[in-house]
Amino acid sequence: MRTGMALERVLPALRRLEPAARACYVYDLDLLASRARRFREAFEGLPLLTTYALKANPLPAIVDLLAGMGFGAEAGSLGELELLAATKVPADRRVLNGNGRTPEEAAWVARHGVHSVNADHVGELDLLEREAAAAKKRVRVALRVNPGVSTSGHPYVATGHGEAKFGISPAEALEAWRTAHWPHLVLDGLHVHVGSQLLDPKPLANALEAAMYLAESSARQGAPLKLLNLGGGLGVDYTGEGAEFPLESWAAHVRERVRGLSFDLVLEPGRWLVAPVGVLLAEVLWVKERDGRRFVVIAAGMNDLLRPALYKARHRIEPVRPRNGDAVPATVVGPVCESADVFAERITLPPLEPGDLLAIRDVGAYGAAMASNYNGRGRLAELVVSGGALIRARAGEGPEEMMRRRRDDVLDA
Ligand code: LLP
Repeated sequence: MRTGMALERVLPALRRLEPAARACYVYDLDLLASRARRFREAFEGLPLLTTYALKANPLPAIVDLLAGMGFGAEAGSLGELELLAATKVPADRRVLNGNGRTPEEAAWVARHGVHSVNADHVGELDLLEREAAAAKKRVRVALRVNPGVSTSGHPYVATGHGEAKFGISPAEALEAWRTAHWPHLVLDGLHVHVGSQLLDPKPLANALEAAMYLAESSARQGAPLKLLNLGGGLGVDYTGEGAEFPLESWAAHVRERVRGLSFDLVLEPGRWLVAPVGVLLAEVLWVKERDGRRFVVIAAGMNDLLRPALYKARHRIEPVRPRNGDAVPATVVGPVCESADVFAERITLPPLEPGDLLAIRDVGAYGAAMASNYNGRGRLAELVVSGGALIRARAGEGPEEMMRRRRDDVLDA
């Protein structure tokens, strides 16, 4: 994060609109634009549509900035399709993913149009065909293949191995391409997405090889493929120690591998684009010493940022204005009634007082997007900094919003 805005000015400014705000997300849109430019330049010249993975961070200000730079977007549900329809991403740059296809999603893409749908199993093709026929439209479809590629990192974000729920087997895909009998589907694509937070491009390269091999096999059986979607997964450096994904050399590898072939390419990066552009700012509520341990209780919890509790993910945490004095071990925790509500255990932090501000870094991806109302906590406001201006892009949720779904609907009596 390199906001053109001093972070200590953010919460006081937000409090003019939300007097009770003690934490918020802030995204640096100038940094986002520069990362997006770097991504675009790395793959320049390829017949490529880059669809931003909306699930990483669906804030319209983020999606619209990327749309303005030529990016498409990838949705994983009906809700995300609807969200996209309210952004600047045109229909022909939208891709639909997901392993629980519903009739409503199928009808939606048939009616409103998409670049392509990634089908997670063969039965789904009948559903897509039915809805496309009803809308008198044709829908382009790629089959998500599970290539049996393992990845390192947390098992919860590995998706391309044999035990994962995603995708169909290579043999089944070949059979579907060969026997395609869905007149309203253009079934000419292959999709692979083998995991997330990959810093080593090797699994991506393995998935690409598996995809190329399958595409050749399909061509040999008389069903040439024209669409190759390589998914997302590019990791970021959460440590600050330079563990970067080698973007340019990965792009060069892809370029080399598809040279002379005429695939339409799709990529679906989420984290790489947005993780480093976000910080979670939170006030220190209490500093509690117990049996030689220092617990720093902050105004954000696992409901606001789930990654540490769910994956033991570790984000750098820094005081916005460090006090003088010796840095000592601290366990940074949230206020939620769960022992997993811990952001960092025994990290070294300078002296802290209630009211001080901590910044949790690299939370632009899968931060606010995974927030919940657990413990009756409203989701935090999301602010953006752009060209030196600080803008509230999404209001924080107050008790009124949380009460809004209350009903007394007698459904059966
Ligand atoms: N394409 C598909 C089909 C996906 O399922 C995902 C992410 C992406 C693209 C984007 O992946 P990325 O480039 O962001 O790695 N909540 C986890 C990450 C879950 C990723 C889910 N799928 C986390 O916080 O680490």
